[in-house]
Formats: sequence, structure tokens, C-alpha cells
Amino acid sequence: MPVRLGSLGWALVALLSAGVALYAFHYLLPSAVAPPGIAENPFARPWLVVHASLAATAMLIGPFQLVPWLRARRPRLHRWTGRAYVSACLVGGSAALLLALGSTAGPIATAGFGLLALVWMTATAQAWRMALARRFDEHRRWMLRSFALTFAAVTLRLYLPIVFITGLPYIESYRAISFLCWVPNLLAMEFYLRRRPLQTVEPARA
Ligand code: HEM
Repeated sequence: MPVRLGSLGWALVALLSAGVALYAFHYLLPSAVAPPGIAENPFARPWLVVHASLAATAMLIGPFQLVPWLRARRPRLHRWTGRAYVSACLVGGSAALLLALGSTAGPIATAGFGLLALVWMTATAQAWRMALARRFDEHRRWMLRSFALTFAAVTLRLYLPIVFITGLPYIESYRAISFLCWVPNLLAMEFYLRRRPLQTVEPARA
């Protein structure tokens, strides 16, 4: 999800993110029912609602934080939505960690989702720390990593229909997807960032 994505690429990322976020917000409805396997997670009540609603908030905000002209023209808005994004990731990520511990898909899924929660919160906290230290290029790079991980919610939901269509065994596939939904995202982002060396002179002071 590079900052200089073509507008078509950005629109696709924003659209997919909004679709998954809107689905996740349905957990705020009293009538919401979780899919089999997830409903039985011992931490589902109340942590599924906390996780789904906050992670969805981060997912909705994320793409707009990456738009350069919005950052340049509305810096105060960028700071406030940035605080909301960070808070949503940290609280939504803590709830995700609990859900990972209770996953009915077993220890491999616990490891996959648990590691994702930890790496997601670490990248986001690091991005926030860099913003506070006014190290804006590092802030930007950590935020890109953070959003690549937030986007795992989309990639997971792109893999699941493939499992159904191909008839692959569900539980084994779900365990593999607990890693596949985020490791390639993070590697792709690292590859992108490596091709763009760190700018040590901050634009504001340059
Ligand atoms: C990026 C870090 C994330 C982690 C570590 C994570 C982890 C988890 C875990 C462990 C579960 C329960 C799965 C189970 O019991 O087997 C879950 C469910 C769920 N998560 Fe996340 N999640 C993340 C991001 C997101 C995002 C960004 C969204 C929303 C846009 C989201 C929406 C949901 C929803 C809606 C469910 C309920 C299952 C469903 O209805 O599909 N998650 N998540």
C-alpha cells in the first residue's frame, strides 16, 4: 500500500477496506451472530465486538492517512485521525490477542493471529513514537507497515472464498491463512520500503 499508489490502486485498497470494515461493524448490532467456530471462542464476549468495531475503525481511517495532499493540506485533521487510528489499532489489537489465545482452530491459529496482533501493535506504536519524536520519514514508514498489517483483514477474506471454491480442508487452510493473511503483506511492504532509502532530513526543516 505505497503512499504513491496510483489513484486506481488507492481506490481499490480503500474500497476493499471499507467493505470489510462495514461487514465488521455489523457486530455492533444486538442481532449479530458470529460464524461457527468464532462464536465458540471463549473470549468472543465481549472481545469480538471490541475487536471488530475498533479494527474496522482503523481500517476505514487508514487509507486516508496515506494520501499525501490530505496530510499536507489538513495537518490538524491528519493528527486527530492519526490518534484515532493508533488508539483503534492498540485497543483492537489487544482484543485480537485475547481472541487469538481463544481461537478454536488450535495452537497454529493462535500463533498466526497472536503474532499478527503483536507485530501490528508494535508497528503502530513505533509509528506513533516516531511522529512524537518528529522523525516523520520513519513515522511514514512504520505507518505503511502498520497499514499493510491492518490490511490482513482484507487478504484473509480474499483467501477464504478460494478455500471454499477449491474444496481445500477448511481447518488446515484456516491455520495456514492465520500466517498467509499478513506475512506476504509485510514482506511486500518491506520490499517496497527497501527500494526507497530513509530520508534523514525532515521535509519541514529542509
Ligand atoms: C491486524 C490484526 C488483526 C488480528 C491479529 C485479528 C485477529 C482476530 C482473531 C484472532 C479473530 C477470532 C478468530 C478465531 O476465533 O478463530 C478475529 C475475528 C474477527 N476480526 Fe480480526 N484481527 C485483525 C484485524 C482485523 C481488522 C482490521 C478487522 C476489521 C476490519 C477485523 C475484523 C474481524 C472480524 C469481523 C472478526 C470476526 C470473524 C468474522 O466475522 O469474520 N480484524 N480477528
